[in-house]
Parts: sequence; C-alpha cells; structure tokens
Amino acid sequence: MNFDRHRRLRRTEFMRDMVRETKVAKEDLIYPIFVVEADDVKQEVPSMKGVFQISLNRLHEELEEVKAAGIKSVIFFGIPDEKDPEGHGAYHDHGVVQEACRISKGLYPEILVILDTCLCEYTDHGHCGLIDPDTKDVDNDSTLPLLVRTAVSQAKAGADIIAPSNMMDGFVTEIRKGLDDNGYSHIPIMSYGIKYASKFYGPFRDAADSTPSFGDRRTYQMDPANRLEAQRELESDLEEGCDMMIVKPALSYLDIIRDVRNNTNVPVVAYNVSGEYAMTRTAVDMGLLEESVIMEQMVSMKRAGADMIITYFAKDICRMLDEGM
Ligand code: PBG
Ligand code: ZN
Repeated sequence: MNFDRHRRLRRTEFMRDMVRETKVAKEDLIYPIFVVEADDVKQEVPSMKGVFQISLNRLHEELEEVKAAGIKSVIFFGIPDEKDPEGHGAYHDHGVVQEACRISKGLYPEILVILDTCLCEYTDHGHCGLIDPDTKDVDNDSTLPLLVRTAVSQAKAGADIIAPSNMMDGFVTEIRKGLDDNGYSHIPIMSYGIKYASKFYGPFRDAADSTPSFGDRRTYQMDPANRLEAQRELESDLEEGCDMMIVKPALSYLDIIRDVRNNTNVPVVAYNVSGEYAMTRTAVDMGLLEESVIMEQMVSMKRAGADMIITYFAKDICRMLDEGM
C-alpha cells in the first residue's frame, strides 16, 4: 500500500510521550494574586470561581498553597484602601503590592515575584495614567515619571521582575533608565507591550476594582483587529530594552504569540486572562467540558510559542501534573 503510516507513532502511551513536541511544566506557570490592603478579607471573586482577593495580613495562607502546589512564580495586583486622581498608592514605598512582595520574600524567598507596573488599580477614575483635563484622555508623557517611580519602589521592595502594563509609549525606555539610575540594572523588564483593548479583562476589573469610570482604554491598548501593529510594538519594546515580551490576551491571540515567537529571541509570555479563565472554569464546573481542556489550552499557548503562561489555573495545572495528566 502506498501511503504514510502516521499512526505508527501513536500506537502506545510510551510512543506518544516520546514524540510529544510540547510539554507544560510547573516552571512555566505564573500565578496572579489579588492583594487587599484592608485587613481580614478573603473573598472569592464572583466571576472567577477559585480566585480570591486576600488581605496582606492573610497573604501567608495563599502563599502556603502556592508553595505546596509547586508554583515557582507569582504576580501581585493590589487593591488599595484609597484611590486618587494621580494613583499615589501605586508608587508609595509601603503600597499594597510593595508590602505583598516583602511578605512573600520574607516567607518564601525562592518564589519569584513579578510586580505589575500600572496606575489603574490606584486611580479613582480607573484609567492607567493621568487624565488630561482638556481632552479627558490619558496623557502619555506626564504619566511616564509616575510609572518610573512605581517601578523603582517595586524594585526597592524586592521584586524580581518589573512588568509594566499601562501601554504608554516609551515606558520601557523610561523604566529601564529609572531602574538603572537607582541601582537596579540587574532587574529584568517583562513588557506587556502587546496588550489588546479586550473585553476578556472584565472579571479582572471586578477583582482589581479597576473599571474606568468613563470612556474606555482604546486610545492606549491595541485594536483586536490588528496583527502588524503587534510587530511594531514588539520592535520598539525590544529596541527600548525589554527582556521578555507578554502577549495579552492569549487564547484568541495565538497567531500573535506565534508571530512574536518567530520574530524575536527573547522569552515570550502568554497572559491567559481573566475572561478566558472564567469561560473555561464555568464550562468545566457545569460539566459541559472535561477538566483536561484546561491542559489542552495550556498546551495550545505553548505550541503557539509561549515560554511562560500567566494563568489563574496554575494551581489546577500543578495538581493535574501531579496526577500525571
Ligand atoms: C492593568 C492590567 C489589566 C490586566 C492585567 N493588568 C487590566 C486592564 O487593562 O484592564 C488584565 C488581566 C486579566 O484580565 O486577567 N493594566
Ligand atoms: Zn492599567
């Protein structure tokens, strides 16, 4: 018979394991944690079952679970007691994520801490930067120094990686310079430079209490219809000195992850965002899909070219890996 026998390599579990091209490991996972400045809160996010807002004074409970699961890195998002137009809480030396970082480093110095550098959780209007009173739009250049202050205060708190997410032009240049000038030239920047204006962030904005009070983020986040624009964002971030590149969201943007992988040699990170989590979580919890779809989604992001995945499923995946799934 004259055709290829592809099924030869699929015959046994052993054979399939041996030829598997893409694997998910615990080292690939980054787990987001929502930290509340006020005391004694541990509250499940209604749109994200299994994900909690947790107080600084109870953060050790969450970190204990993270450690036990075998997760190696976390990213903190803060919910401050007070918000104002300039987002002071973001760059306060004892702000909520700065303190979360200190607690984490004190308890588990080996857990890698990534801090998100943005203002939206700290501004009363919920935008990622300062508002120009005339245009009512976020002003690029006057926001940059505040991002630099935020990043430096995060490095001072012991962050291992700075992850700027606010999508102002030039943020990598300015933050790199600020870190270098303050003795943090060894701290890498993981840039969220390819961040689409997506409705898949909805549950996160509930969790982080960061929904804009007016307008939307389309003057600074990217149009979901654009692929070449991601290439331009990538080129400028690389030129500006970013060490790793995040693509966000992930599952509806696997083509972008592949483009980035093919066009750079820096590590690529997929941000499997809150809406993606909520959809899959709900479908699995309702019994509409088997739980192993979670792993299939992780494999898809890695196959598209991601080296690392920021995901609210990190604990579930660690358990599945332990169970040999
Ligand atoms: C803040 C930020 C956002 C997310 C991470 N950092 C939200 C936004 O732009 O509103 C989204 C993460 C998620 O949906 O899981 N700039
Ligand atoms: Zn923001």
